[in-house]
Amino acid sequence: MNAAEGIRVEEVSMAYGSSRILNEISLSIRKGSVVTIVGPNGCGKTTLLKIINNLLKPDQGRVFVEGTDVNLLPAHRLARIMGYVPQGHKISFPFKVRDVVITGRMPYIPAFSSPKREDMERTEQALSLTGISGLADHPYSQISGGERQLVMIARAMAQQPSVLLLDEPTSYLDFKNQILTLKMITEISRSKGVTVIMTLHDPNHALMFSDEVVLLRKLNGNRVGNMIACGLPQEVMTPQNIMAAYGVEVEIVDVKGRKLLMPL
Ligand SMILES: Nc1ncnc2c1ncn2[C@@H]1O[C@H](COP(=O)(O)OP(=O)(O)O)[C@@H](O)[C@H]1O
Ligand SMILES: [Mg+2]
Repeated sequence: MNAAEGIRVEEVSMAYGSSRILNEISLSIRKGSVVTIVGPNGCGKTTLLKIINNLLKPDQGRVFVEGTDVNLLPAHRLARIMGYVPQGHKISFPFKVRDVVITGRMPYIPAFSSPKREDMERTEQALSLTGISGLADHPYSQISGGERQLVMIARAMAQQPSVLLLDEPTSYLDFKNQILTLKMITEISRSKGVTVIMTLHDPNHALMFSDEVVLLRKLNGNRVGNMIACGLPQEVMTPQNIMAAYGVEVEIVDVKGRKLLMPL
């Protein structure tokens, strides 16, 4: 393993049946950076996250994590490297928040064994890292949507991953909780050196909270590459690129030295 290298996606293509979703996606993601994948509904953001996490096998291409092909890593090793927070997770049993977070320790607990002291400690650290220690004894089913998102991030962090994958971590959250969650995610990346790859719907959030942005478009049967651009947020999120991805006309406005997109 090469710990200095983050994630490398090499010419990944993927189809469901005859419908091609991803075409020749190549990315190089620096270790410790926050990378956001944006693009219209159905352009393949979730598919790409699942391929990075080896939950889906691409038709072509490969993914490397810290220099190793994800295909060659046993599942339990990959689970220690990558934490994944899927979209719209629902747990309806009245588990306590702490019990949900401790399930993140599964890759470290041998079959038929109980959590050890270290698992307990890592669980408390993850609760503290995400600012939800006070919720540890609350039933997961009775906390707010914003708090649940933090619980799922804590659960992923209890895994001690070096890569955190988050699929639409802000959907269903109100404005305040969206900002709180995104700040938490970037803070975790900074403080722990974790590489974050997330998908977001709001192009302005991508501009504000990412080191780099990957902008995808829908293929609609075209055999072209569907990555419009990747790189620094301000260079990727141009009016031309937003038009190509979403078909929406926007203007860049400057607010206290920060660039934001405003639909016309
Ligand atoms: N398991 C599947 N079988 C067939 N089609 C799928 C499957 N998963 C996703 N798709 C289709 O692939 C496209 C991309 O899906 P997805 O990666 O979820 O996009 P996004 O996350 O950008 O909205 C969509 O048109 C979706 O309907
Ligand atoms: Mg999706």
